[in-house]
Amino acid sequence: MACVNRAILFITGSDTGVGKTVLATALTRCLVQAGVPVAALKPVGAGGRGDARRLRAAAGAVLTLAEVNPWHFRAPLAPRVAARLEGRRLMLSQVAAHVRRVQKRFRTVVVEGAGGLLSPLGEDFDSRDLLLALRATPVVVCPNRLGAINQTLLVLAALPRGLARKAQVVLNSPGKPDPASRSNRRMLSELLGRRRVHVLPWRKPARSGGRARADRRLAVLLRPLVSLVRNGLLD
Ligand SMILES: Nc1ncnc2c1ncn2[C@@H]1O[C@H](COP(=O)(O)OP(=O)(O)O)[C@@H](O)[C@H]1O
Ligand SMILES: [Mg+2]
Repeated sequence: MACVNRAILFITGSDTGVGKTVLATALTRCLVQAGVPVAALKPVGAGGRGDARRLRAAAGAVLTLAEVNPWHFRAPLAPRVAARLEGRRLMLSQVAAHVRRVQKRFRTVVVEGAGGLLSPLGEDFDSRDLLLALRATPVVVCPNRLGAINQTLLVLAALPRGLARKAQVVLNSPGKPDPASRSNRRMLSELLGRRRVHVLPWRKPARSGGRARADRRLAVLLRPLVSLVRNGLLD
């Protein structure tokens, strides 16, 4: 049995649409394959429950959709804004309590935020507040293109120092790399330490034969992150 310490991995990003769900589902699958008891949550969402369904499936449907995503609002807007359109209000204490309850059952929980780090989630919180309340490990996803170093460092600078120090960074490979895609990893590793910078490969649309190879490559690239969870080395 793997030595698994308690961990909440909070997947946030430099923006919306940067690959948080792609990473969260891939990482959850890799953790399941590594024998880590894990649940994946999208506690707050707006504009559809596709992310929540994908996360639920990635963890092997160990939770109901209502447990994966208890708070969902119709409008495709920041959740605080979408909630108000429905006359609803969501508070940090409710969401933090839900994540903690799930963590008691599974020990390791992958939580996807909504939007970027400072997008308003509920009346009194954004992803940064939730990260802090949960003492979670931030996992910052950023598209690997020109500008990624600045965007990654801006997100880390917005975190309290203790959280920034334990943050992991995932550069999400674009379909078409630019000249910066290769050097970004080196420079961020120099600034943050090699162990904290990871790469998520670009995943081509499904084609017969290519899937298994792509899955193996993904597992290899995410192995260092999986090992940190398995060995309780995230703090
Ligand atoms: N590594 C990748 N390979 C292929 N497609 C990707 C990759 N990362 C993101 N995408 C695509 O980009 C879009 C946004 O990604 P998503 O994970 O939903 O972003 P977020 O959760 O941050 O809003 C989706 O259509 C997703 O399939
Ligand atoms: Mg998403």
